[in-house]
Amino acid sequence: MSVGPPRGSLSAVVAAEGYPDDLKLAFEQYLEGLVVKSPSEVDGLFSAMRYSLLAGGKRIRPVLAMATQRSLGREPSEILPFAAAVEMIHTYSLIHDDLPAMDDDDLRRGIPTLHKVEGEATAILAGDALYAEAIHHLLTEQHATPNALVAATVQLTAATGLGGMVGGQYLDVHGLAPDGAKGLLLLHGLKTGALIRASVECVLLLAESVPSSAGTALRTYAEQLGVLFQVVDDILDVSGTEEQIGKPPGSDLRHGRRTYVTEYGLDEAVEMANLLHKAAIDALEPLGSDAAELRVIADHVATRTV
Ligand code: IPE
Ligand code: IPE
Ligand code: MG
Ligand code: MG
Ligand code: MG
Repeated sequence: MSVGPPRGSLSAVVAAEGYPDDLKLAFEQYLEGLVVKSPSEVDGLFSAMRYSLLAGGKRIRPVLAMATQRSLGREPSEILPFAAAVEMIHTYSLIHDDLPAMDDDDLRRGIPTLHKVEGEATAILAGDALYAEAIHHLLTEQHATPNALVAATVQLTAATGLGGMVGGQYLDVHGLAPDGAKGLLLLHGLKTGALIRASVECVLLLAESVPSSAGTALRTYAEQLGVLFQVVDDILDVSGTEEQIGKPPGSDLRHGRRTYVTEYGLDEAVEMANLLHKAAIDALEPLGSDAAELRVIADHVATRTV
């Protein structure tokens, strides 16, 4: 995928008090403008990819990447190609996660899942193409030194492979995570945490000269936020409504998935989410006001009902 709309400067925009809506809006506009050079015969597949991509997710990962960039005193719009790559990969993971062979869910982002509309073959291929186009877009559109670009691509592909998201999905669907707290943390850290961590880590790699204290603070924050995100997802699977979360609640229970709620009960899962939230906020301490937006994101992830 290539060529988004003109990238305006976002630095002058005053960060919103709530979720960084300016970043989300800029990201949505960029995503909307993405095109792929391909034969017209495959337009149907591109439409299928856009159906899921533009269905309106929370855009947590791209917004996180852009807010990380801003916390480094840099222009968030410079990182849009990377942010789009992450969201394409995330969207592919959702399309495949919903397939009958995986979670067999019929609703995603408030609309019917792609396989329900276009059939399983197209849904599988749309996911495959989103992954390839994500890497292509990153390598062709992201401005960075060649070394930084390679380092970020290495990080992103590792975070989405066996030792990352796909490995975690494998453990999840086959119930292979080791018993106990460590096993559950491994599962969540891989299937969800890895891509969230990469959303921060790759921005550091693309920026190159980041002071080590800031790098350590941001990495610790991302580590906590990644697990927090999935713990809250587990909680919402039990306590959320279809209208709120845009996907069928009870999916984990239906498939006997191991979650923080099944392992510890709802109250304790909420308590653990609170601890992870606090750890994420505490990690940002050395960054002072530069990390204001990242704090808002952590608050949003911890308290979200959508
Ligand atoms: C859902 O991700 C899948 C998980 C990793 C928990 P999101 O909750 O970020 O989904 P969207 O992008 O907002 O639809
Ligand atoms: C999936 O976790 C995480 C992914 C890598 C897609 P879930 O199966 O809990 O995600 P939802 O609840 O369907 O969004
Ligand atoms: Mg799943
Ligand atoms: Mg699922
Ligand atoms: Mg879930």
